[in-house]
This record gives sequence, C-alpha cells and structure tokens, in this order.
Amino acid sequence: MTGFNGRTVLVTGASGGIGGAVVRQLAAAGAQVLAGGRSEAELAELATATGARPLPFDVTDEDSVRRAIEGLDLYGVVNSAGWGGDIETPQDADVQVFDKVMAINARGVLLVTKYASREMIRTGKGGSIVNVSSQASLVGLKGHIAYGSSKAAVDNITRVGALELGQYGIRVNAVNPTVVMTPMSAWYWGRPEVGGPFLEQMPLHRWASVEDVAAPIVFLLSDGAGMITGVCLPIDGGYTSR
Ligand SMILES: NC(=O)c1ccc[n+]([C@@H]2O[C@H](COP(=O)([O-])OP(=O)(O)OC[C@H]3O[C@@H](n4cnc5c(N)ncnc54)[C@H](OP(=O)(O)O)[C@@H]3O)[C@@H](O)[C@H]2O)c1
Repeated sequence: MTGFNGRTVLVTGASGGIGGAVVRQLAAAGAQVLAGGRSEAELAELATATGARPLPFDVTDEDSVRRAIEGLDLYGVVNSAGWGGDIETPQDADVQVFDKVMAINARGVLLVTKYASREMIRTGKGGSIVNVSSQASLVGLKGHIAYGSSKAAVDNITRVGALELGQYGIRVNAVNPTVVMTPMSAWYWGRPEVGGPFLEQMPLHRWASVEDVAAPIVFLLSDGAGMITGVCLPIDGGYTSR
C-alpha cells in the first residue's frame, strides 16, 4: 500500500462502521485524518485511538459543511456518511423518508464534494475523492426505493465529478459495497429469511467486513490508483456480476 506521507484526508461518517475502519487504515498508512460526523463524543473516542482530528459537521447543512471545510489543505476525501432509511416499495413510499435519505446520501456527497474540491483545486496538488455508494445502485433490490435512488445519484456525482475535476489532477471514484453488518444494515439483512436467500446467490457467500470495504477505498485514494477515475467499483462478493 502506498504511504500517504502526511497528506490530509477528510473522512465523513468516521464514527460509523465503514468510516471508522477507513480512518484506522489511513492513519496506519501515514495520512493526517480529519474525522467527520455529528457525534462529537464518538469522534473524540476515535481521535484518541487513531490520532485523527475530529471535524464535527452535518452533511445536510450547507453552512455547516462550508464552515468545516473552507481553508483546509486537503488531498483526499472519503464520503462515507449515510443513512439507510426505511425498507419501502414504490407504492407505499413515505416521501419524507425519501427526501431525508436523498439529503444525507446524495445531497450530502454533493455538498462535501463542492467545498472540498474548491480547496483541493486551491491547494494545486491534485487529489482523490472516494464516495461510498452501494450495490443497491447497480441492481434493483426489493424495498430499496429510496436508498438505491440515493446511491444511483452518488454514482452520477462520481462520474460527473471525475469529468469536471480531472483537469486539476483530482480523481473521483466510488465503491459499491454489499452488506456489512453495521447497525445500519443488521436490523434488516440480519433476518435469516432476508439474508439467507441473498447470500445463496452471491458467489462468495458471505457478508463484507468493514476491512473488506476500507482497503479498496484506501487503494483508490493512493497513488497506486493514479490512472483510475470515474469508476464505481463493486465490493460485493460477485453479487452484481451474476
Ligand atoms: N453497512 C452496510 O451494509 C453498507 C453497505 C453498502 C454501503 N454502505 C454505505 O457505507 C456508508 C457507511 O455506512 P456504515 O455502515 O458505516 O454506517 P453507520 O455505521 O450507520 O455510520 C453512518 C455514519 O454517517 C454519519 N452521518 C449520518 N448522518 C449524518 C449527517 N447528517 N451529517 C454527518 N454525518 C452523518 C454518522 O455519524 P453521526 O451519527 O455521528 O452523525 C455515522 O458516522 C454509508 O454511506 C452507507 O450507505 C453501507
């Protein structure tokens, strides 16, 4: 793994399962990590364990995002903040849930990209943005009308971001993980009648760990991925390749 030599990387959702694993792997690889989330107490705990600097802000609030990011000398960003919403069909969807899922998962990624990319352009050293999307954007999953739509928007922000920011040496990629048993997913996918049939169809027949997801994110941030941009990379045990 390429070292980060003190480059500064912002990780949103750092207090979550996947974001926390990314922070730990980045700190071990020599990055200066800024840990984003809303819960100051959880960020403080992570800071003590990893040396990351807490950066509390709310991704749904444009002023909060701008205040947190303006003036930072950023090399990289991992957009991992997210919310699963509810399991709903199109015919019974609660549009308030849809709006909230879109505000956190899609609009939040856009807002962080908007302010972070400005600082990356100002710093003038290129950089790398990795968005945490989902397998739910690549295939239709029952009950995932809001969440899948929000992650499809994330994939589009990734592709358009790559197109617009490439001229500044800034790469933009996404990862599209299968289920990781964090609190976000365990309440639904942990049910045997839901998770069992799903795993049967997945070539690797197991859930992803947070480390399985964090390692490709760190790779996409690194110089080893210097020619990769605009990609949405499944980390799904082969599920979407069927
Ligand atoms: N778990 C899975 O199975 C899975 C699969 C595929 C993709 N993903 C995606 O991976 C990402 C991380 O998921 P996870 O499982 O690690 O989730 P998690 O453990 O539930 O963590 C979610 C994180 O998002 C932050 N967050 C939520 N709303 C926020 C807001 N308005 N402003 C700022 N931060 C906010 C939370 O921080 P606070 O609570 O402190 O605000 C927390 O750090 C998400 O984008 C998710 O959609 C997850």
